Amino acid sequence: MTYETLIVEQHDAVTLVRLNRPQALNALNSQVLADLIAAFAAYDGDASQRCLVLTGSEKAFAAGADIKEMSDQSFAEMYGANFFGGYDRVTATRKPFIAAVSGFALGGGCELAMMADFIIASDTAKFGQPEIKLAVTPGMGGSQRLVRAIGKAKAMEMCLTGRMMDAAEAERSGLVARVVPAAELVDEAMKTAKAIAGMAPLAVLAVKEQVEAAFEMTLSAGIRFERRLFHGLFGSADQKEGMAAFVAKRPGVWTGT
Ligand code: HXC
Repeated sequence: MTYETLIVEQHDAVTLVRLNRPQALNALNSQVLADLIAAFAAYDGDASQRCLVLTGSEKAFAAGADIKEMSDQSFAEMYGANFFGGYDRVTATRKPFIAAVSGFALGGGCELAMMADFIIASDTAKFGQPEIKLAVTPGMGGSQRLVRAIGKAKAMEMCLTGRMMDAAEAERSGLVARVVPAAELVDEAMKTAKAIAGMAPLAVLAVKEQVEAAFEMTLSAGIRFERRLFHGLFGSADQKEGMAAFVAKRPGVWTGT
């Protein structure tokens, strides 16, 4: 499958998706969204694929939603079409995905990175929600996910001033899992993705559901939900294999059942 604005490759069990609109610093227009929805649906539906890495270029992960495309839209057009609503289909992906961010991740770019299960950043990464400078606000989840990721003080400051956060501050604040040298970013993200792809598939799905539940549920409901999923895995062949392999001091061999 080829895409107008993405380069998609499969490396064994890992799908690598590169945003590819260099002339606009990967600004997210409606074609990018349509391509992302198709690429993520293909990934989610392909049993051979176990993890996905989403990246941009060295200069820009994505410099935001496409300002030129949006600028003349009316309220009726934006609201009527539920503009950006399509991103819910990206976040509905049940399998894990990692954002590998180098350079600018601004506005919608920062918000797209935060849709990932976690972010690995290069030391050149710059995160920001500069929408306020355009007389609008975050519109792809930034005001919600940034607060959950780094807390109210920094999130509010960033959204109200539009200032950028560098990679070191992003790591310190908990926005990113890890910072690596720019030249190693994609290799490091792929290595991490391959490690996840090598885990028992049902357990991977369950972990993602559990951690996501922490953002949606009360603590007691979340802990009950976690425990039930944990109990449920004892109905899987891979749980028997994983624990038998540990006792026998050999690596587990997964069937995904
Ligand atoms: C459309 C964009 C773009 C964007 C860059 N470009 N960002 N086009 N939408 N978000 C285009 C530029 O117009 C230019 O095209 C080309 O990409 C290169 O950009 P330059 O500005 O020349 O590059 P540089 O000087 O290196 O500056 C990089 C930058 C700057 C600091 C990232 O481009 C910038 O500030 N971009 C906008 C960042 C932003 O405000 N993002 C939030 C968007 S709103 P030409 O044709 O001139 O060469 C958003 C909304 C979410 O995401 C929800 C609210 C509605």
